[in-house]
Amino acid sequence: MSKEVKVLWLSQEDVIQAGASDVNLVMNQVTKVDRWLVEGKINEAPLLRVTWDHKYGGARKIGIHGCIIDSEEMQIAGVKSIPANPANPKKYGMPRSNGLVILYDFDTGLPVCVMDDKIVSDLRTGVGSALGAKYGANPNSEIMGIVGTGPIMNACMSANSLVMNNIKTCRVYDIVPENAERFCRRWESLGYKFEVVNSCAEAIADADIAYVVTSGVGVGDEYIPSEWVKKGSFHAATSIWDYKHETIVKAFNRWGIDYEDRIHDVGFPYHDMIEKGIFSEDQISCIGRVMKGEDKLRTSPDDTVYYATIGICATDIATDYMIYHRAKEMGLGQEVYLWHEPAYF
Ligand SMILES: NC(=O)c1ccc[n+]([C@@H]2O[C@H](COP(=O)([O-])OP(=O)(O)OC[C@H]3O[C@@H](n4cnc5c(N)ncnc54)[C@H](O)[C@@H]3O)[C@@H](O)[C@H]2O)c1
Repeated sequence: MSKEVKVLWLSQEDVIQAGASDVNLVMNQVTKVDRWLVEGKINEAPLLRVTWDHKYGGARKIGIHGCIIDSEEMQIAGVKSIPANPANPKKYGMPRSNGLVILYDFDTGLPVCVMDDKIVSDLRTGVGSALGAKYGANPNSEIMGIVGTGPIMNACMSANSLVMNNIKTCRVYDIVPENAERFCRRWESLGYKFEVVNSCAEAIADADIAYVVTSGVGVGDEYIPSEWVKKGSFHAATSIWDYKHETIVKAFNRWGIDYEDRIHDVGFPYHDMIEKGIFSEDQISCIGRVMKGEDKLRTSPDDTVYYATIGICATDIATDYMIYHRAKEMGLGQEVYLWHEPAYF
């Protein structure tokens, strides 16, 4: 029997051709993964963050994730690495982050594919936050507040338009006003009234749904006070460190997360607030349980909901698994050898 091992290399162009920017595909996969997580069908390791400034929560970092999916639909293992430097867009005209995934055969652990994950990572993040809105926002929400208009917010916008049907006004703030203008132009086909505003407060204080998706804010730089949170609203804290701890505790009365095992990830707000003794984990609803009807994110129109996504590797791997199979059917990518015969030292 041949012992040669070939690995498929899929570039960003290849994965896009195979459907990586299809928000419906990603929505489908993320929804399944959120359920599989609480059904025990996924082993998702804690997220490791290697930072340039040696601090937890630093914004210049490499995120390293891994998971094994053992579900009725797929059995696959994967590792994702995602380096980020907030200076990249301005300094080098390059994306803040880039992602690579390695897919491994479930039985042997041998690699089958190395692929670009940047597009899938952005979209799965947008979809993750929008699923929070689906279950946590008032369905008749009309005003959206947007802070930060980079790739991840574009992904949030795409996914939000699938789940929220009554949006009429979008107030958009970015520290770079041209970015906000460009964002409004990109999404004008949705038919909302877009207003570029001059501050975070103007964008979110009157919003029914707020997405805060900035870059460069890390542990210790939190700045959003309680006064900017409207009663009855839903807030997706996608960039994680913008809200002051006292705001999270006092301005909101319902809290959610994308995966409950992540509550104790060091350096993230829930973990730090629990450590400080100002918050308790049994107040947090996990989206998979909400989807299964075992819990609720919103219980009344007056609830004010804070939703944190910490980023689930299995959402990338389940989507990339589909992309990998489509790419093979389409004859995309390049095969390279890991070895012709395994060597032993
Ligand atoms: N929760 C998750 O699972 C998850 C996953 C991936 C990325 N993220 C986070 O999403 C954020 C956005 O990522 P991106 O790739 O779109 O970043 P990006 O740097 O490409 O874009 C960010 C945008 O926000 C603007 N901005 C930066 N600071 C701002 C501020 N204080 N107020 C208003 N606007 C501001 C920038 O001008 C830019 O237009 C990052 O913080 C990243 O860590 C979260």
